[in-house]
Amino acid sequence: MANAKFVWMDGKLVEWANATVHVQTHALHYGSSVFEGIRAYASSEGPKVLFLHEHLRRLYASAKMYRMEIPFGIEEFTSAVKQVVIANEHDSCYIRPLVFRGDEALGVNPRRCTPHATILTMVWGAYLGPEAIESGVDVGVSSWRRTVPGVGMSMGKIGGQYVNSQMMVMEALDHHYSEAIALDIQGYVSEGSGENIFVISDGVIYTPPMAASILLGITRAGVIRIARDLGYEVREQAIPREFLYIADEVFFTGTAAEVTPVRSVDGIKIGSGSRGPMTKLIQQTFFDIVNSRIPDRWGWLTAVK
Ligand SMILES: Cc1ncc(COP(=O)(O)O)c(C=O)c1O
Repeated sequence: MANAKFVWMDGKLVEWANATVHVQTHALHYGSSVFEGIRAYASSEGPKVLFLHEHLRRLYASAKMYRMEIPFGIEEFTSAVKQVVIANEHDSCYIRPLVFRGDEALGVNPRRCTPHATILTMVWGAYLGPEAIESGVDVGVSSWRRTVPGVGMSMGKIGGQYVNSQMMVMEALDHHYSEAIALDIQGYVSEGSGENIFVISDGVIYTPPMAASILLGITRAGVIRIARDLGYEVREQAIPREFLYIADEVFFTGTAAEVTPVRSVDGIKIGSGSRGPMTKLIQQTFFDIVNSRIPDRWGWLTAVK
């Protein structure tokens, strides 16, 4: 897949090949960065960015909890996202804003290193594979637990914290699963390495609460809205691991994974072992909105042009 032409870097569009940093960059050594993952979907009026405002608010929130100033205002950042999507002539794309500590000094104290802001874009299809959206994925519960309160900040998308997600993904792939589900430190279901999780039983939809060490996913919030609008009951509550095995349906949500059904957990078939009817309806509604096939009734999409 060809790289995009430009990267936005500290206020300017830079050619892809020139968007580089020095090896002393603090973020390379200590994970000192905050980032977002955003998608833009094609429409007859050009690309439309999904949840642009919500993602940038979370970027600034991650920076605030990590005590890092973003060297641009949120309005400038919003314009920059649009600018780089237009410059790279995307119809649809994945957008990766990243703010990281620079290369002035080595040593753990991050405050001596200047924050830099960048935005990458790329063409990126279905995160867990094109068939996953319809057929579902096989996943395993990870031996790695999610970020523990007082050790990490699960509400922030902070670079260094993603070593935990990387361990989960590598273990899952080594065990021939497509993705992992982490438990929180108490042993309740938390989330995937880069997705939130929903569990359906007897027509009720369950999802782990904020206190289960989850990232408060923006797709999660959108899907809760869709589900309630469809008349389903959604409960945010602690979920024991074994509830996954006896569920009727399970699915992941995330910007990258969109809405992806889970067809087995730890080798145990979920429901009929294929995408369930409630997942299908929620997924269809989600894709109809983001692909501008039905009205954007909640104002989720932002045109770039
Ligand atoms: C750990 C983690 N959980 C959940 C999500 C899903 O969040 P969102 O729907 O905002 O992309 C992500 C992706 O950003 C993630 O990295």
